[in-house]
Amino acid sequence: MTGRLSTPSVRSELRNYLISAYRDDLASDILSGMTAEQKYIPSRYFYDARGSQLFEEICRLPEYYPTRLELSILRGACGALMESFGEGDLVELGSGANKKISLLIDAAPGPEGEGLRYIPVDVSESALAAATEGLLWGYPHLHVLGIVGDFTRDIERIPRGRKRLITFFGGTVGNFTGPEAHRVLANVAAMMEEDDRFLVGLDMVKPVPVLEAAYNDTAGVTAAFNRNILAVVNRELGADFDPGLFEHRAFYNRDLAQIEMHLVAREAMTVRIPALGLRVAFERGETILTEISRKFTRESAGRLFGAAGLAVERWFSDPRGWFALASLSRAAGRPVEPAGMAQDPPARGGPAGIHR
Ligand code: SAH
Ligand code: AVI
Repeated sequence: MTGRLSTPSVRSELRNYLISAYRDDLASDILSGMTAEQKYIPSRYFYDARGSQLFEEICRLPEYYPTRLELSILRGACGALMESFGEGDLVELGSGANKKISLLIDAAPGPEGEGLRYIPVDVSESALAAATEGLLWGYPHLHVLGIVGDFTRDIERIPRGRKRLITFFGGTVGNFTGPEAHRVLANVAAMMEEDDRFLVGLDMVKPVPVLEAAYNDTAGVTAAFNRNILAVVNRELGADFDPGLFEHRAFYNRDLAQIEMHLVAREAMTVRIPALGLRVAFERGETILTEISRKFTRESAGRLFGAAGLAVERWFSDPRGWFALASLSRAAGRPVEPAGMAQDPPARGGPAGIHR
């Protein structure tokens, strides 16, 4: 994996573990979500080709601070993180347009990606393919193994055998309930060797107006992103949701320290989902919960990591402490149990606190 220059196609491979699973996953998730008391659609389904593009637009919005802050923190941290990482695998969970990984590749000791293999894992094949293509041309020594998969299920597909820096940028860990996030982190911890590191981006608790503005941009891009999830269900399951009949609503739930995004029915209606043989009745004002985005404190993050068998080695943040990057190692001397943890409430499905 060193030295020899070759064309991008020789240095890249794509493995798709979702090809047959995506529609079945969606069908069973929509059945559960549309028959729950608080209707919900898992946020994973935002990211078809259009949803991935809309997310990239969100990242450029003046109100959406996380991307800019994380990039600036990473610029300051990448030297320390990569100083002895001459050879190995850079794994990125939920890589999207992978705008952040190049900072790490640039900071590695080898030139132009020499000695490195980049392994992005994402449900969005379109985002993954487009983004890796650019990297392969930009780094003539870099190897890429793209994994189209669900990191809540497919962590074991990530190859072992080389030193790894696993990254989970964007604050995406916050899009999962406590038990779900625990499972992802514990599964990563279980596959880590002593020298491996896990870099997790966390959006932190901050003044509520700042948080709420980030999810209610004046240009309406987040609203379009939110409604796009209905277009995904229509296309994949033949449903007849009219996205125009649903209003975007996002607010901070202080009790659960999370932004919640909902789609609110503007009027009473019945939606047909032929692939499920289902008719779903909505009352006026009824909502579909489409996303939670949890905000952390250093303490709450420490508890989440500790329970998953991970130890915080270094903590990087901005001067206001609005966003953080935690560099984690596998905690010494304790067995790591990937099974679920009971104490967190299921914030999706049967949510106790899904109201203002
Ligand atoms: N890491 C990027 C993108 C964040 S958007 C950044 O920091 O800007 C979240 C990304 O995670 C999207 O690309 C989405 O497709 C992916 N994603 C969401 N749920 C996922 C899951 N369960 N498995 C794999 N990828 C997922
Ligand atoms: C990907 N994830 C961390 C984003 C967030 O902020 O929770 C998704 C998003 N939803 C609305 N805007 C951005």
